Amino acid sequence: MSLPMVQPAPGLPDRVRIYEVGPRDGLQNESGLVPVEAKAEFIRRLLAAGLPVVEATSFVHPKWVPQLADAAELMGLLGEEGRDLPVLVPNERGLDRALELGLRHVAIFGSATESFAQRNLNRSLDEQFTMFEPTVRRARDAGMDVRAYVSMCFGDPWEGPVPVEQVVQVGKRLFDLGASQLSLGDTIGTGTAGHVTALLAAYVEAGMSVDQLAMHFHDTYGQALANAHAALQSGVTTFDASAGGLGGCPYAHSATGNLATEDLVWMLDGLGIEHGVDLAAAVETSTWMAGVLGRPSPSAVVRALAQSPA
Ligand code: HMG
Ligand code: MG
Repeated sequence: MSLPMVQPAPGLPDRVRIYEVGPRDGLQNESGLVPVEAKAEFIRRLLAAGLPVVEATSFVHPKWVPQLADAAELMGLLGEEGRDLPVLVPNERGLDRALELGLRHVAIFGSATESFAQRNLNRSLDEQFTMFEPTVRRARDAGMDVRAYVSMCFGDPWEGPVPVEQVVQVGKRLFDLGASQLSLGDTIGTGTAGHVTALLAAYVEAGMSVDQLAMHFHDTYGQALANAHAALQSGVTTFDASAGGLGGCPYAHSATGNLATEDLVWMLDGLGIEHGVDLAAAVETSTWMAGVLGRPSPSAVVRALAQSPA
């Protein structure tokens, strides 16, 4: 298999943590239903490929995201192996479902804009906090770890540009509910590198440390890898990515796939940055999943390596 030549660049972190979202963000947007056994196998293969965190599914309303309506069945299939995998919960009802299964990591997902809060959560920007506050408090009381996402950080399809101050204010408020990490979502992939640098600087200025921040890039405009590099230069060490570049949000139709795990791994390998992921195993997994979904992976690295001689 081809590998990039290693040439470290000064001033970048030595190691990053890849937070795999393919089974959740990737599969929530599929038009067809993926069999639950295939989802369990996808997750097991990703863990075996060395992904340190695999977000498994969502305990949202099954009518809102029918693709993930099998969340409880999936977690049942994974058994003890699944207990430490994070899942999305939007509210106390979702949390109850996660608690019943003995799960230990949940993620809430808020919006930096009014329009997306209404469309994705059926709540206003302010009302989302009323929903999240008891959810996070009860999760923490039960000993769970909570991640917070904030969406539309780099632009919103209904509102256009989103002021940096608004993104910082909403994101910090979500984090301060009691999260251990805040993931900054470029939900529709419109962000560019300078914007990433400016947003991260604004969060640091507001008192957050880059260690508390993760970047969640969608690759709609082909900017995800450049944006990840800009975030590395600002010291970020957690990157959300999706095997094979699957992904999107059913409530933001301009959202397409996430930054592909394999594309990120290729760049990190070239920079000599450790991540613990076996690239060949990840490519094999994404190629298998592309077969399950019946279409080729959008990841450039998966496509190139799937064709290159062993
Ligand atoms: P709602 O209709 O306002 O719900 O939806 P409600 O609170 O009025 O409750 C209505 C009924 O739904 C009740 O049942 C509840 O029990 C039930 P009834 O009493 O009528 O029989 N219900 C539930 N059932 C199962 N599980 C639940 C649940 N909650 C309520 N969790 C709600 C509000 C938040 C539930 C809905 O809007 C929803 O599920 N939204 C989720 C949308 C979603 O999953 N979007 C994709 C994930 S976000 C994303 O992809 C972005 C991200 O990747 C970052 C980025 O890219 O930026 C994270
Ligand atoms: Mg997303």
